[in-house]
Amino acid sequence: MAVEAVEDSRWPRLFALLDDSERHRAGRMGDEGQRRTYVAAHALGRGLLSHWAGQAPQHWRFVAGEHGKPEVVTTVGQPRLRLNLSHTRGLVAAALTLDHDIGIDVEWLDRKAAGMAVARRFFAADECRQLEQLEPERQDEAFLWFWTLKEAYVKAIGKGLAQPLASFAFTLEPLSIRFDHVPAVEAGRWHFYRFRPAARHVMALAVAGDVAVKIVGQDADGLARVGGGPDYFPMGAPAVRP
Ligand SMILES: CC(C)(COP(=O)(O)OP(=O)(O)OC[C@H]1O[C@@H](n2cnc3c(N)ncnc32)[C@H](O)[C@@H]1OP(=O)(O)O)[C@@H](O)C(=O)NCCC(=O)NCCS
Repeated sequence: MAVEAVEDSRWPRLFALLDDSERHRAGRMGDEGQRRTYVAAHALGRGLLSHWAGQAPQHWRFVAGEHGKPEVVTTVGQPRLRLNLSHTRGLVAAALTLDHDIGIDVEWLDRKAAGMAVARRFFAADECRQLEQLEPERQDEAFLWFWTLKEAYVKAIGKGLAQPLASFAFTLEPLSIRFDHVPAVEAGRWHFYRFRPAARHVMALAVAGDVAVKIVGQDADGLARVGGGPDYFPMGAPAVRP
């Protein structure tokens, strides 16, 4: 969802989809852009959950895991819904599955990324080598592709940055991953996708399991509608290299 495309008249409707604690957190944010991004992401996530499970968006409750990953609270006998959110300047995204671990990350291509310095400090040696082989003008975008893929994965496993980022390595062309920290059978469960949801944004999705991926947009009331709009350009096919 492109935050700047949301008309002013629509913000109260998105805000109304949040629960009290989210409204409180949004209300404490001094920066208008940051507040709108937060509201949009959480409204999008709640709208998506309600689209699939039919409850009022404000109804959903979340509990944080050991490393802070919010998980949807479901009662015994209900399907286990898994939601993950990501926000960056100008764009928010939400990913939903039934039971499968999932992580999503979006990044703005014009952010000051300090690419090679961050890569040398945190990425795997293979990833640094791939970046070094590129012409300097292509390095920033490639760095952000690695970054979104790596964040999507550490968010999918729920560990966030507690998982060392050098313990697994992506290649971009073709998209694949090598793990140092998990057995091959576990590694084979993972599928990765990358998308170009808007001209200046990149997005990556990590999901444990071979599931069909469906792109969903949002209508004027903040509720989900199925079918990608013209802004969505899936770019990658699933690939793993155990
Ligand atoms: C989880 C983490 C990786 C998210 O980072 P982020 O890119 O700043 O933020 P995103 O917008 O993509 O995701 C934030 C959302 O993920 C969810 N989240 C929080 N902790 C999470 C975790 N451990 N696992 C999965 N999702 C988590 C939350 O919904 C959060 O949004 P909210 O605070 O509005 O509820 C975080 O641990 C972090 O601190 N990142 C710092 C960025 C960084 O240095 N990245 C280097 C990667 S190469």
